[in-house]
Amino acid sequence: MKKYQHYINGKWVDSAVKGENIVVNDPATEEAIGEISCAVKDDVDLAVEAAKKSYESKVLVDMPPMERASLMRKIAIELRNASKEGGKILCSENGKLLPAAEFEFIDAANYFDYYSGLTDKIEGRTIPVNSNVMDYTIYEPFGVSAHIVPWNYPISMLARSLSCSFAAGNSTVVKTAELTPLATASIFAKAIDNAGVPPGLINIICGYGNGAGNDLTSHKDVSQIAFTGSVKTGKVILHAAAERAIPAVVELGGKSAAVVMPDADLDKVVNSAKGAIFGQAGQICSAMSRVIAHKSVKNQLVDKLSNLANSLKVGHGSEDGTDLTPVISEEQLQKIENYSRSGQQAGANAVAGGKRVDRKGYFFEATVFDNVQPEMTIAQEEIFGPVLSVLEYSDEEEAVSIANNTEFGLAAGVFTNDVNKATSMASQLNGGQVYVNSWFTGSVATPFGGYKQSGYSREKGQEAIKSYLQLKNIGIQL
Ligand code: NAI
Ligand code: MG
Repeated sequence: MKKYQHYINGKWVDSAVKGENIVVNDPATEEAIGEISCAVKDDVDLAVEAAKKSYESKVLVDMPPMERASLMRKIAIELRNASKEGGKILCSENGKLLPAAEFEFIDAANYFDYYSGLTDKIEGRTIPVNSNVMDYTIYEPFGVSAHIVPWNYPISMLARSLSCSFAAGNSTVVKTAELTPLATASIFAKAIDNAGVPPGLINIICGYGNGAGNDLTSHKDVSQIAFTGSVKTGKVILHAAAERAIPAVVELGGKSAAVVMPDADLDKVVNSAKGAIFGQAGQICSAMSRVIAHKSVKNQLVDKLSNLANSLKVGHGSEDGTDLTPVISEEQLQKIENYSRSGQQAGANAVAGGKRVDRKGYFFEATVFDNVQPEMTIAQEEIFGPVLSVLEYSDEEEAVSIANNTEFGLAAGVFTNDVNKATSMASQLNGGQVYVNSWFTGSVATPFGGYKQSGYSREKGQEAIKSYLQLKNIGIQL
């Protein structure tokens, strides 16, 4: 079995303390595919120390913006070149489709390219105070930035926060998710290294959340945190940040709803569902996990959605023709089974799927629940699996009320051909992003984040860079 290592201070190393190894499984085969020694506090200390030293050396801060940009574009080129090799590892550790795994490296490259363009646009302003005072603002990095990454998009989510933090001039310690460390520790780290990033600026370790993760977010030399993951862990991270009064970017989960109006093109809803709830086995923070359909079209839509669910081919992510890939772990599979059981017990009707697939691997059937009521657990909680809940409404007010009636507010959608109705809905739905007649219309350039419990930060786009910078006001008595 292949051994993987942490990337600290420009070198690949085992944990400083001989101890537990984290063994990574292919969720489609349940076979072990690699192992990495588990990072503990000593490793966190080494990685933070390397990051702190490189920050204090000013190697990045003093690098002219154009040079920083060119270094970032080199990283992008390396990531693009590594997409085949990296995609293979990512496909087998995460379970996702091979093209989707390869695309994560392309997406990561896009982030580095995008934020390379902002390195020379971090501008302050001058403020009139008095004729004998010159007052101006500048933006400065925080220092050591800690990035805690989830397992659903290990490369993409990492690049999203890291590229922005790097463009802003921070040094970084990344903790990968314990379920998916391999492609990051090997191929992603190699891209950083090949591009010529000075040692210590970016460090990558793998350990458990309540071990190395906790040691990292509570480390005295960490000055800012970026977290993507569950609401529950997000709150733990925010507590750790509050304890030391440092800022944290939190991008959390969702229970996002698509409102389907009477005039909607139902095939557009079905096409969106294919990627947005059954793609990636539904393990997407902004998954379209609820459909709220007008009573005049609900039955017809349920038929179409259940036909879609039944047509999906289950398989390994690397097999041609696979539509439905496994979920990440046995634990996650059991969680989804429990949700499915609770839906059926509460009176919802599984018109497609509803149980685990009878084969090796952590597969759950593409599931469509009809007759879901707004208060049911399956309409309220994030399932993080290929399970779609369909609810019915009679008038627009009711649609908005059902859509907004969860603790989340990540994404929302509306399907209608009436532009007035679309814009009215878009303004009433709680969500950091609203999609019309589609799902996932954004790019690296569009700000992304949550309302309510889904978090309050924004990643992506020009807005995100301010999360990685602090503002200084300077006044000069002339
Ligand atoms: P999680 O939120 O616990 O894990 C995400 C990351 O946080 C991992 O790297 C983990 O090691 C780290 N972490 C966990 N506890 C930590 C702590 N105390 N201090 C620092 N870091 C810590 O997600 P988990 O448990 O793997 O999955 C559970 C649920 O989270 C899923 O069912 C899903 O609902 C949600 N989730 C949402 C994601 C999103 O993109 N919004 C991504 C991953 C999970
Ligand atoms: Mg957890």
